Amino acid sequence: MFKIAIVSAAGGVGRSTLTASLATLLAQREIAALALDFDPQNLLSTLLGSDEASLGGLLPDFLTGKEFGKSALVNSNEVVCLPFGRANEASLVTFEQHLRAEPEWLKKCIAQIDYPSGAFLLMDTPRLPSPFVRQAMVAADLVLAVLAPDVRSLALLPAVETTLSRCAPESQLIYVVNGLDSTRAVQSDLLARFRSTLQMRLFPYPVHRDEAIPRAVANSMNLQSLSPDSLVAHDLNGLLNWLLVGPASSLDGRVQV
Ligand SMILES: Nc1ncnc2c1ncn2[C@@H]1O[C@H](COP(=O)(O)OP(=O)(O)OP(=O)(O)O)[C@@H](O)[C@H]1O
Ligand SMILES: [Mg+2]
Repeated sequence: MFKIAIVSAAGGVGRSTLTASLATLLAQREIAALALDFDPQNLLSTLLGSDEASLGGLLPDFLTGKEFGKSALVNSNEVVCLPFGRANEASLVTFEQHLRAEPEWLKKCIAQIDYPSGAFLLMDTPRLPSPFVRQAMVAADLVLAVLAPDVRSLALLPAVETTLSRCAPESQLIYVVNGLDSTRAVQSDLLARFRSTLQMRLFPYPVHRDEAIPRAVANSMNLQSLSPDSLVAHDLNGLLNWLLVGPASSLDGRVQV
């Protein structure tokens, strides 16, 4: 299983959107995709079009001692999603304390999942700093750090690397810019800044801003069915192709691109 943690230091940059979109595109290519919501916002199953506003999920399972992964749901696109689940404030504090005390808790839980070797695991996370992100980084083969083309992402650029070098220095890190509006000169300027600063660590093709994304969510449809020819569908397929021929290419049993 190839494990990707989708992270960022700034909020609202499209982590959950990229997690849900990549998982859906993988499933459409008949590559097993497990989307894991490791964010207490508990939004990923909604983005993936799951009917249930699920109360179940990995946190309630942790609290009740149930086996990790038992509350996973399968959506109409064959994406398996493990929701975070709902819990009260006190339970969340207890869970966070556990995560701080056991930095490899998630990694160990994932190792117990019986999943095909060619499968992908995509982990959505809250923004940094957070014990949830650190757990996902420790568990990941690849950390995909999402940047918005704005000064906030530029200012927070060192945060991901600092955290990663402390908790998972062996993991591969790749940045991707999401939400680019190329008609705005300031965004093109910022993209150039990211390119010169990050060089090979930046995925060369940004994911463009495209209304097709919020429309797909609002209509509970997947992007590929709603707007197969949209710019953003093209961008996301490009990102996925790169993952398949690059970082994830050593997976056994994987369906070829
Ligand atoms: N490429 C895009 N084009 C247009 N809208 C986008 C794009 N990517 C994300 N969005 C929209 O931006 C908003 C924030 O996206 P999302 O919730 O995925 O970000 P996030 O980083 O997970 O946020 P949070 O910090 O709250 O977890 C959503 O309304 C989403 O539909
Ligand atoms: Mg999110």
